[in-house]
Amino acid sequence: MSDKFKALEAYEDLKQKLEAKLSNTSLTLQSLQELRQEYLGKKGPIQELMGEMKNLSPEEKPSFGQKINALKTLVSDLIESKKKELEERQVQEKLEKERIDITLPGKEVNTGSIHVLSKVIEEVEDLFIGMGYEVKDGPEVEYDEYNFRLLNIPKDHPARAMQDTFYVDVERLLRTQTSAAQAHTMLEYGGNKDVRIICPGKAYRRDEDDATHSHQFTQIEGLVVTKDVTMSDLKGTLLKMAQSLFGEDREIRLRPSYFPFTEPSIEVDVSCFKCHGKGCSMCKDTGWIEILGAGMVNNNVLSMCGYDPKKYQGFAFGVGVERIAMLKYGIDDIRSLYANDLRLLKQFKA
Ligand code: PHE
Repeated sequence: MSDKFKALEAYEDLKQKLEAKLSNTSLTLQSLQELRQEYLGKKGPIQELMGEMKNLSPEEKPSFGQKINALKTLVSDLIESKKKELEERQVQEKLEKERIDITLPGKEVNTGSIHVLSKVIEEVEDLFIGMGYEVKDGPEVEYDEYNFRLLNIPKDHPARAMQDTFYVDVERLLRTQTSAAQAHTMLEYGGNKDVRIICPGKAYRRDEDDATHSHQFTQIEGLVVTKDVTMSDLKGTLLKMAQSLFGEDREIRLRPSYFPFTEPSIEVDVSCFKCHGKGCSMCKDTGWIEILGAGMVNNNVLSMCGYDPKKYQGFAFGVGVERIAMLKYGIDDIRSLYANDLRLLKQFKA
């Protein structure tokens, strides 16, 4: 067989073999690259056919050369188009694999919620800041002096029995009321500056824990000391607070009471927001619900704390945050406010 025939036969053979290899479904980009090397590389069949040129006559050379070039083009076209096909398939497979089903429901992110006690405190703070009050902090481990003596409750005063106290030592105790902030603030302000503060915080009493009592609880103290403040200012202020907490159409009722540090002292009821005064289990059929204690600052307290009672008067109030939260949100056991049970807390998400 002449070299020329050999070359032409090789051409057909090569083309067929390559096509067969390219149609192999398990071909990868990697093995395609190897095929390219195999066919078009220096030791490949095309290169080998080129080597045959020297054995041909000058007349045969051009057409043989053309054939080989055409073969080379054909081989690289075949490989190139296979490569495109494989690359496209790879992209498709990747897209398929990474496909996101946007119709699937999302994972729920567990966001926290503001505790109802904090909610009530924040609500009251907002209201009073809006009326020009300052929010104060006070120590929970307090001196007897501030918690009792400066509030007109000397040692042996019977009022001490009303507030069973956790003592730390002879002078110090866990404050039984945020009223301790009254004495701190008046002394700090030095007797010649108006006071307008609220002080939210924890207080402690040696109470047996039950559905309505807790040895640790939360109060918000309010104190105003200025030159011409009266009981009607106190009433107006408390009415505003009751309405902001329990609804705009609430009314309040004042009843005489006794606290050593206020004179006169009052207890304040809000009209029942459940039955609107008709009588129900919430208000024990009275139409009224007790919400806080208050009064005009006792002259003794004013003068012990550096304010001249002939020039200054004041009013004070103390509200139990737990009680407000329980009324407002219909919670019937104070202990559930401290149990951190997510089922309760989650109900009060904003
Ligand atoms: N400190 C009182 C209590 O705990 C409440 C109160 C505060 C009363 C301020 C009058 C004025 O019961």
